[in-house]
Amino acid sequence: MRHLLPTLVLALSCALAVNAQALDATAPAFPLDAGSARNLPVLAQHGMVVAQERRAARIGRDILRQGGNAVDAAVAVGFALAVTLPQAGNVGGGGFMLVHLAKGNRTIAIDYREMAPVNTATTVFLDANGNFDPKLSQQSVLGTGVPGTVAGLALAEHNYGSGHFTLAQLVAPAIKLAHDGFKVDDGLALSLHYGAARLRRYPSSAAIFLHPDGTPLVAGDRLVERDLATTLQAIADKGPDGFYRGPVAEKLVAAIRAGGGHMSLDDLGSYKAIVRAPVTGTYRGHTIVAMPPPSSGGVHIVQILNILEGYNLASYGAQSAKTIHLMAEAMKLAYADRSKYLGDPDFFHVPVAGLTSKLYAAKLRANIDPDHARPALDIAPGHPAPYESPQTTHFDVVDAEGNAVSNTYTLNFFYGLGEVAPGTGVLLNNELDDFAARPGVANAFGLVGGAANAPGPRKRPLSSMAPTMVFDSEGHLELVTGTPGGSRIITMIVEIISDMIDFHMNIQEAVEAPRFHDQWLPDILFCERGFSPDTLNLLSAMGHHVKIVPAFGSAESIAVEGSELQGATDPRQRGTWAAGY
Ligand code: DON
Repeated sequence: MRHLLPTLVLALSCALAVNAQALDATAPAFPLDAGSARNLPVLAQHGMVVAQERRAARIGRDILRQGGNAVDAAVAVGFALAVTLPQAGNVGGGGFMLVHLAKGNRTIAIDYREMAPVNTATTVFLDANGNFDPKLSQQSVLGTGVPGTVAGLALAEHNYGSGHFTLAQLVAPAIKLAHDGFKVDDGLALSLHYGAARLRRYPSSAAIFLHPDGTPLVAGDRLVERDLATTLQAIADKGPDGFYRGPVAEKLVAAIRAGGGHMSLDDLGSYKAIVRAPVTGTYRGHTIVAMPPPSSGGVHIVQILNILEGYNLASYGAQSAKTIHLMAEAMKLAYADRSKYLGDPDFFHVPVAGLTSKLYAAKLRANIDPDHARPALDIAPGHPAPYESPQTTHFDVVDAEGNAVSNTYTLNFFYGLGEVAPGTGVLLNNELDDFAARPGVANAFGLVGGAANAPGPRKRPLSSMAPTMVFDSEGHLELVTGTPGGSRIITMIVEIISDMIDFHMNIQEAVEAPRFHDQWLPDILFCERGFSPDTLNLLSAMGHHVKIVPAFGSAESIAVEGSELQGATDPRQRGTWAAGY
């Protein structure tokens, strides 16, 4: 990845020319504060935040400027997005954070995934005939897990913050935005337009996000979230107890009970975020550090890259039929294993080392036909060595000391369940749909699973969220990335890493490159528009069931090259932003 600098410097003036948002007559070439130009990242020298929304990115950047570290900034961004990107940013959901600490050169993973209430039967999402009823997991509070975000952000700050800021100081910008309101921009207006039907079902949500006549707020309207400001103030005053105990917790439980759910004050009061060791692997001399279970992200990113390492993809070319074929075949094998071996590691032994071993990858690779797609029905989960184990959002921060945060968090669907718990401003998640409601029955993302990911008391549903970092052969941080996209998250990250390492794309090119995805079941090779018809015809002739689908994901990323930070925002979403200094 070290060959890019001359190109970028040469191209910087063009980047400024085409990106009107970045233009500021008084500003020097650095810092940039912008959405990316086509094929060119935004550059910064000291610190950078890349997120799906501009105000939140700038709040994080300002914390860095005031001497905060990457974790301080990430915590401020996490709370701010709950206000400015309500479709995915949240305090009512959960997620995963990777923290790289320059001192000691170590990376830790924070699991703040939602947890099922203690009163959760394995059959919770089945109807009277024992059939899966998606309405129960996707459209009812039975699908709401105990939120983890507040615990996760507070733990991150307590353990890894610089100590220069209190949690209250980091929540303050979010409180101000929620209390005073802010102007709805195009991105939020569009998401409200799509989310309106679900928000309309709940008067508590409609009162915030819709006009009195039931139409959604539009660009230029003011979104004011007073109850959310009060909830955030309780967190600022009391820390996580302001959310997990007392009036906020009582209102959350009341909303869930009113909808027929089982969450209790004890479920909320006993929720804990967990520090875990990340999953690690290597790809052509680079080190991959990614999220461990209960996310499947890290395990399968490493597994797919291990399989691909045996092929000279560089010689086949980016987006050639041969490269896409080999990648799709590797993806299928990983998703077949996911269905059997992945779940909450506190309840089920996940053979992480077996699944991520080079030896196992070599065995899987041996069964890939270089010229023909294997039908999904011919593939089953493999045999790793047993004992050796629409909406989400991602943001990244790198600070001047080289600390970094990669964070993905979610309410699962767009606006989660769509229901704001009355009096709290908190949108409830419907994350428990990520459990396998019944063996072999697909969830909202078409993913199947079995006993490893069955619903159960205080279990965390399996996730695909995959905040990831890549380090060079000398251990220097070179990439921080992640994306929303449900089951497609894993393959998007694999493609970005391969595009940079195998095909020498800069981070912005890698983020923009057309994406493809194969998750074994359904037996479909999903392709964004942008591939050549000749390539697609070759893939069909190999036996792939090619389907063109709308663009997916929002891969916000930062590449590090020497002392330069390169922010890449995903042009597939409106409003994505890189704020550097
Ligand atoms: O944890 C997971 O894998 C899902 N709940 C993520 C959902 C998601 O990314 C939706 N966004 N497009």
